[in-house]
Order: sequence, then C-alpha cells, then structure tokens
Amino acid sequence: MAKASQATWGGRFSAGPAELMLRFSESVSFDHRLAPFDIAGSKAHSAMLAHVGLITKRERDAIHGGLDAIAAEIAAGRFRWDPKLEDVHMNIEQALTRRVPAAAKLHTARSRNDQVATDMRLFFKHACATLAEAVLGAQRALLGAAEAGNDVLIPGYTHLQRAQPVYLAHHLFAWMEMLERDRARFTAVAENANWCPLGAGAIAGTTLPIDREFTARALGFVDGRGRPRVTQNSMDTVADRDLFLEFAGACAILGVHLSRIAEDLILWSSAEFRFVDLPDAFCTGSSLMPQKKNPDSCELLRGKSARLQGNLHTLLTLAKGLPLTYNRDLQEDKPPVFDSFDQSLLCAQVLAGTVAGMKVRRDACAAAVADPGLLATDLADYLVRKGVAFRDAHHAVGAVVRLAEQKGVALNQLSHADVKAVHPAYAADWNEVFDLRRALARREGTGMPGPRQVARQFARWRKELA
Ligand code: ARG
Repeated sequence: MAKASQATWGGRFSAGPAELMLRFSESVSFDHRLAPFDIAGSKAHSAMLAHVGLITKRERDAIHGGLDAIAAEIAAGRFRWDPKLEDVHMNIEQALTRRVPAAAKLHTARSRNDQVATDMRLFFKHACATLAEAVLGAQRALLGAAEAGNDVLIPGYTHLQRAQPVYLAHHLFAWMEMLERDRARFTAVAENANWCPLGAGAIAGTTLPIDREFTARALGFVDGRGRPRVTQNSMDTVADRDLFLEFAGACAILGVHLSRIAEDLILWSSAEFRFVDLPDAFCTGSSLMPQKKNPDSCELLRGKSARLQGNLHTLLTLAKGLPLTYNRDLQEDKPPVFDSFDQSLLCAQVLAGTVAGMKVRRDACAAAVADPGLLATDLADYLVRKGVAFRDAHHAVGAVVRLAEQKGVALNQLSHADVKAVHPAYAADWNEVFDLRRALARREGTGMPGPRQVARQFARWRKELA
C-alpha cells in the first residue's frame, strides 16, 4: 500500500513508499538523538545563508526562533517523531516548515549527505569529550584505591603464575597507563572530527555563493588559533566514514582494557586469591546458592568488550565495498556508533564505581607475597653482583629452587651449607635477598616498582588527574 508522496523529495514520484518500505528505511527511531546537533547545524547554515544574502535576516531570525522552539519541545519530550519522515533531518525540517514559511529556504545549498556528516562530527566531538571525562573518573577511582593500599605488596604474574613482587599501586598504575592512552585516543578522534562538512552538498557542492568558513566558525570547527577548518574534497566529505571507525576503534580498545582490568579483579576477588573484596553494590547473588557473591559488574565489563569489537567490525564491513560517494547503506553506520558510545560510557562509570567501593584484603596480599620464590630472580642478581655470569647464576638458583622443593622447605629456609654446595658464590649473607622491602628498594629505575618510583607515579597521577 503506497503512501502519499514525500514532501521533501516527492516531486518526481507518482506514489509514495510502501508501508513496509517506510518501516524498513526509517532511521528516526535511532537518529533522533542527533537532534541537538542537527538544530545547531541548521542554525549555523541559515546564519550563513543570511550572511551571504541568500535569505534575509528576518527569514534567518524566523528560522532560528522556530528551531529553538522545536529544540525545547524535543528536550521536553513533547515532539512527535514521525517515521514516515524517515530521519531526524526531515522530521525537524518538516516541523519547522509547518510553523515558519521561511523554512522552505533552509535546505538551500545543503543536502542530507553533508548535513548528516556534520551532525555526526558534532556528535563525535561531544561523545569523545564525554568518554574522556568518564575514563578520567575511572582513573580517579584507581588513584583512590592505590592511595588506600599504598604500602600493600602483591605478587605480579606472568602466565598467571606468581612472578615477582610489586606494590599493588604499581599494578593499578599499569591499568592507569592503559586508560590514559584511551583518554588520549578519544582526544585524538575529537581532533580528527574537527572539520566542517557543510557545503559539500550531496556530492559536488553548490552553484550558490555560500561561505563555508562562516558556517565552520559558527559551529566551532576551528583550529587552535580560531581559524575555520572545512573539509577539502566534497566527494570525500560525504563518503568518508573513517571517524566512525576511529571512534568505534577507540571504544573497542577501551573495551579490551576494561575487560583485562575486570579479569584481574575477578581473579583477585576469588577465594583462591582473596586480594580484594568487591562492593556489594556492584555484585549480585545466586538465586540458588546462598553463599555466592558474584563479580557481575566485572564479568559484564568483559562481556561488553565483545560487543564493542562487534560494532567496530560492523562498521568496517559496512564501509569496505561501497563505491564513492554516499550510499544508503551508510545509514546503518549510526546504531553501532551510538551503541559503542552508550556502552563505553556505562563501562567506564561501572569500573569507577566498582573500584571506588573495592576493599583490599591486606592479610591475603601479605600471605601471597611472602612466597620467597618470588625473589628467585633477585637471588640470581645477588650472584651476578658476586661476579657470576647471569646464565650460570640463573642455573645456580634453579638448582637451589629444586633442592628446596626436594627437601619440602621454603626457598629461604635452606641452610648456607646447602646452597654453598650448589655454587661457591653463595656467601653467608645469601638469604638477606629475601627481605621484601629491601628487594623492592633495589628496583628504582624509571618505570620499576621501587618505592621511590611508585611515589613518583603517585605524584604524577595526583597532578594529572586533579
Ligand atoms: N538518514 C540518512 C543517513 O543516515 C541521511 C542521509 C540521507 N541521504 C540520502 N541521500 N538519502 O544516512
């Protein structure tokens, strides 16, 4: 059943789209959230049209007044979105035309192709700033946790086997570095978004005397010195979806980071580790086993990362085979982007909440890090300081580890005679190596977990996150 002809593009059609086609092709159900950016774009565009004399100042003011009224209605939830009008752009333009006759001139020298590209660039700038702020929130929570446990030592792991002792703060600061790179990535994506597409038209600009730089300035597409930034090729402008990929990529990488952090927390909160107690507010119970407290927030962080990767993959596949320039396929670029934004924001906030309420179990950390095997490498270094070649030292310590295992004692419980029999370089002071605090104090090169280095990182993060 065909509907009455479309007001915006219906001129050459004798029948409107089928009901099914309308349901299939509408995007307003998801792109209505672009309304604030679409309205900002239309205000800037109409201001430019007045500036170059394509509309009068009176027409511009009428358009601005109408757009402000529509913006208020949308914000109040009173605007009726009509799927028959396809998308956010046509819904707003039609509503405006109903109240302001001059709105019929708004689309002069503009296409939905450069319009949607503009809306999305404005969205990306907003989304990147929002996510960078949310990641900052998670980093602040991490700093708080590091402060609370600043003297706690834990084993660091490789292959999920105990490797070497580190300050808990050193481990948390490893997460901090990951999140810092995520924040920088969002800032970089926002910077790449900072070019104004308006004026590219559908594909080949316009014959009308527009001023692209004026529009760019009005929308804040400017460089550090306030100079307008406009895209440099009209075809690329409407076909390019790199930003979508970069944004979804930044979200996917953030997701991978949050997932790895979550995995550490899941392990740490298990009875096998007991390093931390996660807050009840971010855990759930079992409907059957009354004793259970499950780390659901962390498991969902791990799970959501799959979704963020999926969104990136959707966008890569969507773009890869398209001929230049715009194709309607590209309407499908928005749901994955919005989902990546919404879920990344939630994830960063949930990590912040989980970490903020986390309690460190000092007893369990102390017990785990007391394992003298963690300092076997330090014992090899001890032999190196006595002049033994590292490869020989490694072997001489390995033999001592085996001996301790055979005797069923801890590494540092062997007698001096025992170890001296393995290698003559073991002197009477050999087991002073097992003093944990002293062992850490030897690791004071940049980036190492020595107490002075960790203190430096505390100072850095306090300043950076203030
Ligand atoms: N809703 C469309 C999208 O998101 C807007 C652009 C439509 N352009 C067109 N030539 N049909 O892609």
